[in-house]
Amino acid sequence: MTAAAGHFITLEGIEGVGKTTNIEFVRGLLEARGLEVIVTREPGGTPLGEEIRELLLDHRHDAMSADAELLLMFAARAQHIAQVIRPALAAGKWVLCDRYTDATFAYQGGGRGLGFERVARLADWVHHDLWPDLTLLLDLPVAAGLERAGRRNSADRFERERSDFFERVRDAYLRLAQREPRRVRIVAADAPLEQVQARLRAVMTEWLTTRID
Ligand code: TYD
Repeated sequence: MTAAAGHFITLEGIEGVGKTTNIEFVRGLLEARGLEVIVTREPGGTPLGEEIRELLLDHRHDAMSADAELLLMFAARAQHIAQVIRPALAAGKWVLCDRYTDATFAYQGGGRGLGFERVARLADWVHHDLWPDLTLLLDLPVAAGLERAGRRNSADRFERERSDFFERVRDAYLRLAQREPRRVRIVAADAPLEQVQARLRAVMTEWLTTRID
């Protein structure tokens, strides 16, 4: 739990799982209950963070080392937490964030092979116990995700990675869900959108009715 007045929910998954469409769906579910929601994203969410995001995604920086990438992710996150997430939670709002530290465990820890330990140390430094109350992990086999993502024209520095990179990312996500099954809920995304959203609605309804504040 975040030990703050508001609530913190994140969406995670590999490329092509449908985070963008589904985050709006989850926003709708919360707003239908009269809750005040802010939707934000990582890397990004602040003017500084969005500039860092551009550096991270730009394939002109293909020479970026894995450590530089890891530290930039946490630099953007530190700003996001200070400027957006903590103030919103302190004001009692619901923060819905497209990716957070689980993405760093998955992409930098798993995908880039830096390991969970190093990511955990930075997470402890940057946000201590500020973990999401709930993480919705949209899960899809890598081939299906890349097929969907491939339909878009723009390929950023991550989208250009090979499928073995995304296999490591997906494995890391699934390990996180195994380690923390109460917080990280797997939502199978290998179905038509209406079915995925019915699953999301079920998870959200169950979580909203059983959670203890
Ligand atoms: P995102 O905007 O979610 O991209 P997409 O909608 O294409 O899935 O995230 C941008 C990229 O940043 C994505 O490829 C995953 C990567 N990323 C990390 O590698 N580590 C992190 O900690 C975060 C937050 C994102």
